[in-house]
Amino acid sequence: MCGIVGYVGDEECAGLLVEGLRKLEYRGYDSAGVAVLGKKGLEVVRAKGKLSNLEARLGEHMPKGATGIGHTRWATHGKPSDENAHPHKYGGVAVVHNGIIENHLELKDELLKQGHKFSSETDTEIFAHLIHREIEKGLRLPEAVRSALKQVKGTYALAVMSEKFPEMLVVSKNASPLVVGLGDKCNFVASDVPAILAHTRDVIYLEEGDFAVITKGEVELTNANGEKLNRGVKRIDWTPTMAEKNGHKHFMHKEIHEQARALTDTIRGRANIEEGDVFLDGCRLDAKLVQRLTKVQIVACGTSWHASITGKLMIETLARIPVEVDLASEFRYRDPLVDDKTLCVAVSQSGETADTLGSFREAKSRGARGLAICNVVGSAIAREADDVLYTHAGPEIGVASTKAFTTQLAAFFLLAVRLGRLRGTLSVPDAQKHLEALFEVPMLVERVLKYEEQIKAAAYKFSNARDLLFLGRGPQYPVALEGALKLKEISYIHAEGYAAGEMKHGPIALIDENMPVMVLAPRDSTIDAGVNYEKILGNIQEVRARGGRVIAIHSEGDTQVPKLAEAAIPLPQTNPLLMPIISVIPTQLFSYHVADHRGTDVDQPRNLAKSVTVE
Ligand code: AGP
Repeated sequence: MCGIVGYVGDEECAGLLVEGLRKLEYRGYDSAGVAVLGKKGLEVVRAKGKLSNLEARLGEHMPKGATGIGHTRWATHGKPSDENAHPHKYGGVAVVHNGIIENHLELKDELLKQGHKFSSETDTEIFAHLIHREIEKGLRLPEAVRSALKQVKGTYALAVMSEKFPEMLVVSKNASPLVVGLGDKCNFVASDVPAILAHTRDVIYLEEGDFAVITKGEVELTNANGEKLNRGVKRIDWTPTMAEKNGHKHFMHKEIHEQARALTDTIRGRANIEEGDVFLDGCRLDAKLVQRLTKVQIVACGTSWHASITGKLMIETLARIPVEVDLASEFRYRDPLVDDKTLCVAVSQSGETADTLGSFREAKSRGARGLAICNVVGSAIAREADDVLYTHAGPEIGVASTKAFTTQLAAFFLLAVRLGRLRGTLSVPDAQKHLEALFEVPMLVERVLKYEEQIKAAAYKFSNARDLLFLGRGPQYPVALEGALKLKEISYIHAEGYAAGEMKHGPIALIDENMPVMVLAPRDSTIDAGVNYEKILGNIQEVRARGGRVIAIHSEGDTQVPKLAEAAIPLPQTNPLLMPIISVIPTQLFSYHVADHRGTDVDQPRNLAKSVTVE
């Protein structure tokens, strides 16, 4: 997620902006910049990489002025570079933006035809051109920004300044966070409270569609229709550290609760229900290429490998092409059957995992086409891919992957629909039905998060367990694997995920009153006409018959499973291929609260690194 900071007052602000950006570093970024308006006009200084690179540039030339905006960029469109760093400036207008403009390509075409010249690959630069064009028509800055926003589709937290309208910032919010800070003869704007906490604790949280004109003495707030708003001023009493986590105790907890937004950002602009198809920006998969494929080979590690098992199910169900899933550390050292009719998919949140990168290179060296599903723009695996399907989860700070997993599943689903449409195995009406279900998922995730107190109570009840078994069938089997990994890596309880059908082949020997079992038992599974549900009921009975304690994750309205469980967590229902995105949420929260209750270092568990860049 990008970071925004803005100031309008009487002080020189370049240094103040950089300090504010430093407080937003936790959001992750790959370039940064500031724009300051002073006697010399509007000056922009930007640098790829860390803030220290920007400070070095500012050391050579510190722009003077008391109105300014700053930005740390987490790349979504366009690689990390000086040119793609924000602020973007055009015709005396400077903008910083956090979000995604879905229709930026058509707007850019229109502006290019009118003679506009672009200097970046970003979607954001569009705003500077649109606003400049409106000012040239005679509009004042606020009206010019409002008119530009009407032409844009997508998400934004936006801050704008203009040479023609000094000592003024115009800001607006739609789906990406923005707060206004109220100072003494000065005012601020920021993506998040930490950036301005050193100057004020009085903030106004902007809401969807809010629009603000900020000068040093006044903040004029209106809604999308221009009607005056009076949003309450909140007094922030967090410590700066708490503020970085937006009030959450841990980054992992914050990231679990960010998943609805992360999924929306990953789906947005790609799933087209009207056409019953998917637009995969960054992927040049056409019918000719896809129809000659004989298999898909997925390579990944850890949580990304669990997501890949679900991805296999999605692709084989919708595109009817054989899919193999390998642990990257295994794949690269066997003599894999890969050729130029193989699509190799490397899945990696960080895009830097050594084993995954090595396997990807191995597959490509044997002729495979390489597609990466990554969360970090410009990462090693993304750079070496022929096609990249980015998840837009934003930086994942907690070592334990949460929003990376669910957005990888959404990415796989989009890929599966696209492959199915290109191979002719998925009709338009069926694709429309699947995509309608996908659009509903973020709302369902928010619904599951509301059961947190129930999940926390179950977690506390079992937080002293020495071992725990996770069971699932069909699409829920990889969720059992992922739930076990979450619990073991942050609470240090030994946990195993198993296909429930394997119980009789060994694990049932482990069952007694000291072996709690979490069973993923959502009712609907039209993949197998509900066979999995009936069978999993039997598995629960087997566990109970041997004194095992059952924690059940079941469908809302199901009255059978809760009767058989010591703790039961209800789930809303959706397309069975998408159910793993919903059913993994309780396992994430369960693991989080067990670990928090045990007092382990949830965000930085012992012995683990966020990205395993060594073998
Ligand atoms: C999952 O919670 C762990 N952080 C770990 O298993 C991780 O998924 C694995 O190291 C792969 O990382 P990547 O997705 O960045 O390649």
